[in-house]
Amino acid sequence: MTPFISGQGDPQSLSREEAAAEIAELSEEIRRHDDLYYVEAAPEIADSAYDSLFRRLQALEAAHPDLLAADSPTQRVGADPRESLPNVEHAVPMLSLDSAHGIEAVRRFDERLRKTLEGEEIRYVVEPKLDGASLELVYVNGVLDRAVTRGNGRVGEGVTENARTIPSVPLRLRQDDLAVPSFLSVRCEAIMYLGDFENLNQWRLEAGEAPYQNPRNATSGALRQLDSRVTATRPLTVLAYDVLAVEGTSFATDFEGLAALKAWGLLTPERIRLVDSVEEIAEYHSRFEADRETLDYEIDGVVVKLDALEPRERLGSTSHHPRWAIAFKFEPRKEVTRIDRIFVSVGRTGVLTPVALLRPVEVGGVTVSRASLHNREELERKDVREGDLVRVQRAGDVIPQVVERIDEEGRERGATFAMPRACPSCGTEPVEKGPFTVCPNHFACRAQLKGRITHFGSRGALDIEGLGSETAALLVDEGLVAELADLFDLKEANLVPLEGFAEVSARKLVQAIDERRTVELSRFLVGLGIPEVGAAVASDLAAHFRGIDAFREASPEALEEIHGVGPRMSAAIRSFLDEPRVSGALDRLIARGFEFGVPERAVEATGGVAGRTIVLTGALEAFSRGELKERLAALGARVTGSVSARTDYLVVGANPGSKLAKAEALGVEVLTEAELLERFAVELGTTG
Ligand code: IVH
Repeated sequence: MTPFISGQGDPQSLSREEAAAEIAELSEEIRRHDDLYYVEAAPEIADSAYDSLFRRLQALEAAHPDLLAADSPTQRVGADPRESLPNVEHAVPMLSLDSAHGIEAVRRFDERLRKTLEGEEIRYVVEPKLDGASLELVYVNGVLDRAVTRGNGRVGEGVTENARTIPSVPLRLRQDDLAVPSFLSVRCEAIMYLGDFENLNQWRLEAGEAPYQNPRNATSGALRQLDSRVTATRPLTVLAYDVLAVEGTSFATDFEGLAALKAWGLLTPERIRLVDSVEEIAEYHSRFEADRETLDYEIDGVVVKLDALEPRERLGSTSHHPRWAIAFKFEPRKEVTRIDRIFVSVGRTGVLTPVALLRPVEVGGVTVSRASLHNREELERKDVREGDLVRVQRAGDVIPQVVERIDEEGRERGATFAMPRACPSCGTEPVEKGPFTVCPNHFACRAQLKGRITHFGSRGALDIEGLGSETAALLVDEGLVAELADLFDLKEANLVPLEGFAEVSARKLVQAIDERRTVELSRFLVGLGIPEVGAAVASDLAAHFRGIDAFREASPEALEEIHGVGPRMSAAIRSFLDEPRVSGALDRLIARGFEFGVPERAVEATGGVAGRTIVLTGALEAFSRGELKERLAALGARVTGSVSARTDYLVVGANPGSKLAKAEALGVEVLTEAELLERFAVELGTTG
């Protein structure tokens, strides 16, 4: 196939026929590349070439809206939000599976089957039981018609627009190797790979949102969004494993059906096998269970299904589950054990977290000896005490948690656990903040100090080269730094004897710290780690108050004069500054002699680039992408690789990619490189 040369002719001036022909050709070409990219993992063209095909198609569709097809590759970016999800009946009920918790139950299942099918040869398909959200996809004449969540098995929620945004859901079935059926209903599982899940949670944490408990919750949340543009930003994958109904073709076995699903461009679970004995099932199960921890997705067992389809009908179903399949579960990752002791750990920001020390117990192949009890409120809600019997769980890679207390009748319980009256690290009296208990001695509490130092020296703050977390820990452990101010008293001679230091590195660090006595006020404020004050707010505060004293004396009302600072934020700032230990530590730090700079603001209203999330795309002129990224990052911006609802600006150079379409769909502000340089001229040093 000759690569399609796109971009000839102004879309507006093409006739309807010409446009239709080009749209058809482009759509086909893009689908082929989507397939190569997402299904075969073997792209043939560069992203930039793909992007120009995509943009050309968008332009054509924009100029000829009546030619916009529901299955156009451009329709993956998400549609307008809905009020609620409609109820949709499944083509065929989506039954659930009976489970077997040991090989004996599987043996009984096998015996029952053999008895009913007397003498017939029996083969099973075995495959991983994916722990995601099940989903029905319906294709009519090869085109995605609808996507429906499982719901109660008979009726689910219509999530077609959301499913359209998932790259592994074909909008149209492939028909290169196999004709498409007139009707196909296929059962799938939507999942989130663990790596994707962790990235998503990282994002959420950085955006101040609560992380998801586990990939399954994240998946079903993403799938059931009212705004498909949100789903489009979530990293979902859909794997198909069961033909629920098909018309226009038929299969004799499940295995054939799976091969057809693959040929039509759907993804299927890995490691699907055919076996013909309980022994082989046992072997398959234990091999998967052994590999469970190394997989990049969550499974909770293996599914065993009779391969031949005709006998399935004779076996039939109960009202809940078919008699021809069973889920052979893994050992649960929840276990019961006893709490030996509860202690309190102090986190980097001063939050006191109660932690249960447990009698060591194996949970899903990993020994667990401690589990988080989260915070004061959670502890009260669960009412767990030392000596109690509890159920612990481990989902994916998250920290083990105490799920619930198990009542033991007649057993005398210990005293209720109360949060300590003194910080276990520094002895300061903690304060209560919502459900949390916090040590307010932020600058001198040893548990907080290492993190505070690292943050103070980080790139977005004072940017002190050589002051990473290891060095910070060393300085605290060696007793050289007991609070931030001490950093500025360090002498070369103090450092030289330390592990990892020599004369040159010691001199360099002392010098690097010393040089930062002249520093932008906003960076200094960032470095203090004031609650709620990120780079953007710090930059606004600095521009407004222009000096450290004016800021420290600011009333809540004065703070709230700043755009974006509300009562909650001003209260958090004030309570931080008013804490006597903080204010004492701050006095001593400032007494080390600083010269604070406040740059003239480029555009007051935008609040500068600090704290903004920026994505760069296309070929830039004035800077290389790497250079610009570095400069922006140095000014406190976050430069990321993909556009999401949280992106503040997309900066486009020549030949921008599909990111532009995504930014437009999400309503993200788009700037040309020149506009960026002009808007932030002072900060970027691009005046004149
Ligand atoms: S076969 C009639 N295969 O597990 C049932 N189900 O408790 C045919 N599941 O929600 C289903 N992975 O959606 C089958 N490889 C797999 C599966 C699988 C996950 C889900 C299924 C259902 C649950 C059963």
